[in-house]
Amino acid sequence: MAGSFVIGLMSGTSADGIDAAILQTDGQKFQNTGCSGSFEYRPETRNGIWAAVANAYDHMHDALARQHLDRLIAEDHANAVLKLLDSSNQSPALIGFHGQTIYHNPSGSDGHPLGRTTIQLGDAALLAAKTGLPVVHDVRRADMAAGGQGAPLAPVFHAAMLARLAVDLPAVLVNIGGVANLTWVANQTGVKDGAGLIGFDTGPGNALMDDYMRLYCDADFDKDGALAASGIADTTLVDVWLDEPYFTADWPKSLDRQAFQHCLDDARLLAKAPADAMASLALFTANSIAAAIDQLPAPPQTILIAGGGRRNLCLKAHLQNRFGGAVKDGNFVGDRSLFSPDMLEAELMAFLAARHISGLPTSFPATTGCHRPVCGGVLVRPV
Ligand SMILES: Nc1ncnc2c1ncn2[C@@H]1O[C@H](COP(=O)(O)OP(=O)(O)O)[C@@H](O)[C@H]1O
Ligand SMILES: [Mg+2]
Repeated sequence: MAGSFVIGLMSGTSADGIDAAILQTDGQKFQNTGCSGSFEYRPETRNGIWAAVANAYDHMHDALARQHLDRLIAEDHANAVLKLLDSSNQSPALIGFHGQTIYHNPSGSDGHPLGRTTIQLGDAALLAAKTGLPVVHDVRRADMAAGGQGAPLAPVFHAAMLARLAVDLPAVLVNIGGVANLTWVANQTGVKDGAGLIGFDTGPGNALMDDYMRLYCDADFDKDGALAASGIADTTLVDVWLDEPYFTADWPKSLDRQAFQHCLDDARLLAKAPADAMASLALFTANSIAAAIDQLPAPPQTILIAGGGRRNLCLKAHLQNRFGGAVKDGNFVGDRSLFSPDMLEAELMAFLAARHISGLPTSFPATTGCHRPVCGGVLVRPV
């Protein structure tokens, strides 16, 4: 297998911590190494992130706060790398560093004072210095400069993964993080050059359910979806929420984590007992994923679900009710050396870093709306 060992680092919009994985890759082929781990943020880092997400404008206008949080995030990532290397016998030559998204606004049309941009925090130079490794970071900016949404960047890796797993096509890979996104692969040729690839954010992933749990249930998330499964969903309310234009808009499309926060302020939700509220949020999340799948050119033979949201059994049951046996939990592959659903996004970052080094595109007109295929990322070398 050609290619060098690359560390991918991902902290998604759930801000639940850092996923780190080592992938052997040349940016086209890849081999999972089985060396991976999840590392929590320090409480100070996590609190800083939530404050920045809640008010990105103020954060970006406070130079000291920015420097401080960029440093905390880089330090936590560097510690994750050093711990991962302790447990590994590989010698990676490169890091792919996503950074922590606090704001994502691909159109800027909503009048938000930060306008059209996407912001990932974390001091890449400090990460390079502390680990002694070159770092590819800032993976979304070039795509936005080329007219793209800056997201999702996963399709090129999802497609390579679906091809490798030889699942029945057409196939969809749904990653359920804070926001949920999907990649559609119609046939094997789509995998090669980006043609025939479709990818977009479907709507909320775990974000609304997590936020409700934090606000009203003194927990970070609904373990296994048990609370949601014990309640009764308000289908009328869910249908009202699903009426938003986003769900019928054509792709490319992508979302900020906070895009559907207004649902949490809905008086009809607030009047409910927590179990019924969570049941409604879970059904809304599942139905928004289903609506996205219904938008695709043909019904998929395989719907592979990944990300932390696949552990929410209530969410998964809704998708299974709707799409039957086509829904496959990442576990169906069995062999974690082929597919590790928890590490998909970390491996994606390793893959994108390798593609940057090889000058290969990381996004395509059909995945982000960029005017032409874009090779994203910025390389920082250790001093
Ligand atoms: N056992 C579980 N039951 C239900 N939800 C879970 C479970 N484990 C993780 N999750 C959900 O997955 C989320 C983290 O998923 P992840 O894929 O890391 O998202 P992100 O990429 O946004 O960080 C958690 O915030 C939580 O909502
Ligand atoms: Mg995560």
